[in-house]
Amino acid sequence: MLWHTILVSLTAVTLAQAASATTSATSSACNPLSSSCSADTALATDISVDFTSSLDYFNEESTESGISYGDDGLTMTLAKRFDNPAIKSTFYIMFGRIECLLKAAKGQGIVSSFYLQSDDLDEIDLEWLGGDDTQFQSNFFSKGNTTTYDRGEYHNVNSAPQDDFHNYTIVWTEEELVWYFDGTPVRTLKNTTSSGYPQTPMYIKAGIWAGGDPSNEAGTIEWAGGETDYSDAPFKMYIKDLSVSDYSTGKEYSYGDKSGKWTSIEAKDGEVNGRKGKAAVADSNESNSSSSTVTTSASASGTSDSGTAAKSTSASTLSETTGSTQVGSDGSSTSTTLSTSSTSTTSSTSSSAAPSVATSANSGAINGHSAVMYFVLACFFAAY
Ligand SMILES: *[C@@H]1O[C@H](CO)[C@@H](O)[C@H](O)[C@H]1NC(C)=O
Ligand SMILES: *[C@@H]1O[C@H](CO)[C@@H](O)[C@H](O)[C@H]1NC(C)=O
Ligand SMILES: *[C@@H]1O[C@H](CO)[C@@H](O)[C@H](O)[C@H]1NC(C)=O
Ligand SMILES: *[C@@H]1O[C@H](CO)[C@@H](O)[C@H](O)[C@H]1NC(C)=O
Ligand SMILES: *[C@@H]1O[C@H](CO)[C@@H](O)[C@H](O)[C@H]1NC(C)=O
Repeated sequence: MLWHTILVSLTAVTLAQAASATTSATSSACNPLSSSCSADTALATDISVDFTSSLDYFNEESTESGISYGDDGLTMTLAKRFDNPAIKSTFYIMFGRIECLLKAAKGQGIVSSFYLQSDDLDEIDLEWLGGDDTQFQSNFFSKGNTTTYDRGEYHNVNSAPQDDFHNYTIVWTEEELVWYFDGTPVRTLKNTTSSGYPQTPMYIKAGIWAGGDPSNEAGTIEWAGGETDYSDAPFKMYIKDLSVSDYSTGKEYSYGDKSGKWTSIEAKDGEVNGRKGKAAVADSNESNSSSSTVTTSASASGTSDSGTAAKSTSASTLSETTGSTQVGSDGSSTSTTLSTSSTSTTSSTSSSAAPSVATSANSGAINGHSAVMYFVLACFFAAY
C-alpha cells in the first residue's frame, strides 16, 4: 500500500486517470506530519468479529460485489479482471493485538494482503502470493520511509496458507512488534530498529488483487509469480474470527506534533497504553514452541543480499491494494519527489483517505506504478 501510494502519485497520467475515476472518495487524504488533520476514531476496546454477517467495524472498498459474509467468515472474491475487493476498518488502534484466521487466495499472480496503516504512513504488513504455497511475507514501514529495501521477510511454512485457515497474530507495543504464525513467533522487530519503528494510530485493511494481470509490466508479473489466468477465476481470500485489542483508551487519537513519535500521540478522554495488560487477550509472550513449522528467510536488517531484499520490497510495493489509490481531495494534492541519483524516494502523499477508485482505473494505476517501480529498482541496482 505504501509503495503503491507513492508510485501511483509519481505519474501524472496515472493520477489523472485515478482522479477522474474517483467517484466516491471517503475523506480527504491528510498526513499529520505535514498538515493539520482531523483526529482518528479510536477503537479503545476489544472486539471479536466472525464476519458471518456484515458489520459496523469495517467499510467495504472498491469491488463491493466481491465481498460476502457466511459460514467461512468474510470472503473476498476476485471474479474477473480488475476486481479488487477490500475492507478497511472504521477505527484506529494505538498499539494492540490483532489475531485473525485467514486463508489466502490460490491462483498464480493473485495477491492477498492484510495490513495496518497509519495516516503518516507507518505500516505493518502480511501478504501472500496465490501461486506460492510455501511462504508468506511480513513487512513494515515507518513514516513512508522507503530509502532502504530490507524490511520485508519471507516466512516458510509447511502447511499451505491457501489450503487451510491459519492463525496470523500481530502484537504491537511501543517496545516491539511480533508476528505469529499458528502460535509461533516468526518475527520480532524491536523499537531500536534503524529502519524506523511503526508507532502511530493504525487502521486495518485487507484485500485481494491481481499482480499478474497481463497488462502489467513484466517485472510485476514475475514478482506476482506469473500471469494471472482469469479462466481460473474466481479467486477467493477468506478471513474469519478476527480479534482486535486496542491497548489505548479514549474517543480519538491525534498527533500532538509532527514528530510521528508514539509519545506525541494524544488520546482524547483517554490514555495511550491505557488498556495495556487489561485487554481481553494477553499481549506478547505467547507460546513459542520449539516444534516450529516456520523458518524465515530474507533478513530484514540489512544482512540479506540486496537483490533479494529489493525483490521483497517490490512485493510489498505491488501488493498494496490497487483499489485504494491515494488521491488528494482535489485529485491532485500530492507532492512527491524521486531522486534520480540514488534509490531514495520521499513522499508527502497523504495516506488515510483510501478513496474508492473505479475498477477501470486499476490497470492504469498498476501500469503506471510498475513502470516507476522498474525505474526505482534500476536505480537501486545501479547503486550497487
Ligand atoms: C522502546 O521500548 C521501551 C520499552 O518499552 C520504551 O521505554 C522506549 O521508550 C521505547 N523507545 C522508543 C524510541 O519508543
Ligand atoms: C492464535 O495465535 C495466538 C498467538 O500465539 C494465540 O494467542 C491464540 O490463542 C491463537 N488463536 C487461535 C484461535 O488458535
Ligand atoms: C529512513 O530510513 C533510513 C534507514 O532505513 C534512515 O537511515 C534514514 O535516516 C531515514 N530517513 C528519514 C527521513 O527518517
Ligand atoms: C512469559 O511471561 C511470564 C510471566 O510474565 C514469564 O515468567 C516467562 O518467563 C515468560 N516466558 C517467555 C518465554 O518469555
Ligand atoms: C521462546 O523463544 C525464546 C527465544 O528463542 C527461547 O529462549 C525460549 O526458551 C522459548 N520459550 C519457549 C516456551 O519455548
